[in-house]
Amino acid sequence: DDDNAATPIKLAFDSLPNSMTDACVVPAGYTAHVLGAWGTPLNDKARAWDKDGKNTSEDLLHSTGMHHDGMHYFPLNGSSTEGLLVVNHEYIDENALHPNGPTLLNGKRPAEEVRKEINAHGVAVMHIRKSNGRWDIVKNSQYNRRFTSATPMNLAGPVAGTDWVKTPFSPNGSQVRGTNNNCGNGYTPWGTYLTAEENWAFIFANTTAAAELPAHQTRLGVGATGRYGWETAAGDASEVGGEFSRFNITPSANSATQDWRNEINAFGYMVEIDPYNPNSVATKRTALGRFAHEGCAYSKLEAGKPIAFYSGDDSRFEYLYRFVTEAVWDPADANRTDRLAVGDKYLNRGTLYVARFSEDGVGEWLPLTLDSVGKDGRKLGEVYGSIEEIIINTRGAADFVGATPMDRPEWTVTHPTNGDIYLTLTNNSRRNASTGTNAANPRLNNVNGHIIRWHDESNSTRFRWDIFVYGSDAAADADTNRSGLTEFNQLASPDGLGFDERGILWIQTDNGIDGGRNNAVAQSTNDQMLAVIPNALADSTGTGPVINASNQAELKRFFVGPNEAEITGFACTPDYSTIFLNVQHPSNWPAYDTSDATVATSGTVRPRSSTVVIQRADGGPIGV
Ligand code: FEO
Ligand code: CA
Ligand code: CA
Ligand code: CA
Repeated sequence: DDDNAATPIKLAFDSLPNSMTDACVVPAGYTAHVLGAWGTPLNDKARAWDKDGKNTSEDLLHSTGMHHDGMHYFPLNGSSTEGLLVVNHEYIDENALHPNGPTLLNGKRPAEEVRKEINAHGVAVMHIRKSNGRWDIVKNSQYNRRFTSATPMNLAGPVAGTDWVKTPFSPNGSQVRGTNNNCGNGYTPWGTYLTAEENWAFIFANTTAAAELPAHQTRLGVGATGRYGWETAAGDASEVGGEFSRFNITPSANSATQDWRNEINAFGYMVEIDPYNPNSVATKRTALGRFAHEGCAYSKLEAGKPIAFYSGDDSRFEYLYRFVTEAVWDPADANRTDRLAVGDKYLNRGTLYVARFSEDGVGEWLPLTLDSVGKDGRKLGEVYGSIEEIIINTRGAADFVGATPMDRPEWTVTHPTNGDIYLTLTNNSRRNASTGTNAANPRLNNVNGHIIRWHDESNSTRFRWDIFVYGSDAAADADTNRSGLTEFNQLASPDGLGFDERGILWIQTDNGIDGGRNNAVAQSTNDQMLAVIPNALADSTGTGPVINASNQAELKRFFVGPNEAEITGFACTPDYSTIFLNVQHPSNWPAYDTSDATVATSGTVRPRSSTVVIQRADGGPIGV
């Protein structure tokens, strides 16, 4: 009934078999090469990566960081051969980073090691260009830059400038140093990058007795020691401006002039970066809530209507959130060059909601505002005195209004034409008889995870939803393998997601490391990326998963990574001729003497997380 409808596209590659090698695997007719492995210099201030781990903190400040995750390609002048690739550096492998792993001297981490670790985190902006079929970093480009866990950033939105975030570094609460645990990502309609702060709570130390910890720190799992012991370098003779002391947020830890108790309140946000302006300051958008942010998708744009931004909180039994802008979308804003001012317009004022999935394929967005009524009949404003206090305590506020506890919400993405939103629920081995199940998280001991999707009803807080696919191994019983997956598309622990503009959904998996690979899929294949062309939720029958035994062959495995690595981050050129993805925490890859990502490592190498560039050998559009 639509004469202009494009010919439906079809996936035109053979689904890959399982693979467990120290190499990447792509379908016949495709190539894959390594780009920007950790420690790759962005300019001449950094020395080349040293395979004995001897690079300095200064080298790292001018090189790509570690543990690549979310990513986006920003074309220069619309180009599919030259652009800015922005990559998250989520966390670090201390054993690979230092020559012989992390050290302690008299119970303290050496200052240089801590600075190196801080600089290995954050975000990289890489100017990249294709020549002779190969993408490379344009070294010394003015666009190349690093954001680390020490780079000064602005705070914006309701928490900015409040007592919650006043520190010796920023007495007026307008700034903080660094972003941390940048896992999933988003991007905006006005050309900026969004980087999600996920497991930042664990870099801080608070030795206060558990009973006296602020409620939000208890809820976030803040402990008495930091994950890497950065706080132990406090007092080093070389310390400048509390650069290490700030990780000890115990109120009694420091003198009155060095009271860092509020440092942690400036973490846990969605952070906006303008990659096109090398002098721009990254800005933390506090209005979008404070939790273990993963990914950030925006709703299908409609001129004159608000925009919704969706973000999962990746921890067991945590929630799904939505921020709805107060400003309505003006398409002219897509072309402005003062991009962070556009961000100020949309991302500083609006309403934060949390999702409740009802039992019948219908859900409701519950506002986290002062007037919201909680499960016990009180208003949220009676528990938290201000909107900034609600944001600092986002998880507690969501508990109070009765949100639905989920099986670890990871990435969100939006279908380019029908506007359905997809969310990965990676797994939850603690969903058991005592926690119970709910309609949106229906399997006990959910070690395989699933993907859910929804569609907001306009002018309403209601949404409709269904379950898209259940992770499972091919041999599992029908109650586990509800989508009828086979050897060629069995998957577990879905995490990264990408939609390209043609409507192909790319699904990536992360089965963890070191004993975390606790399901039968991870024991028979390495982590992977699959592709599928979904129908619209409006066309769903509402019975059973969308991917089922009769149509499962349309879900195809496109990529398998090397041993132990997760596959994450999706970016694509406008002409679909290049896909970028990230291989995070491999155990013995890439091989030293080649950039061909499909060559298996021989012997043992110092492993490097890397971007992998995938192209068709004939230069054509990928996947079709
Ligand atoms: Fe860093 Fe939720 O994965
Ligand atoms: Ca993730
Ligand atoms: Ca994950
Ligand atoms: Ca990861």
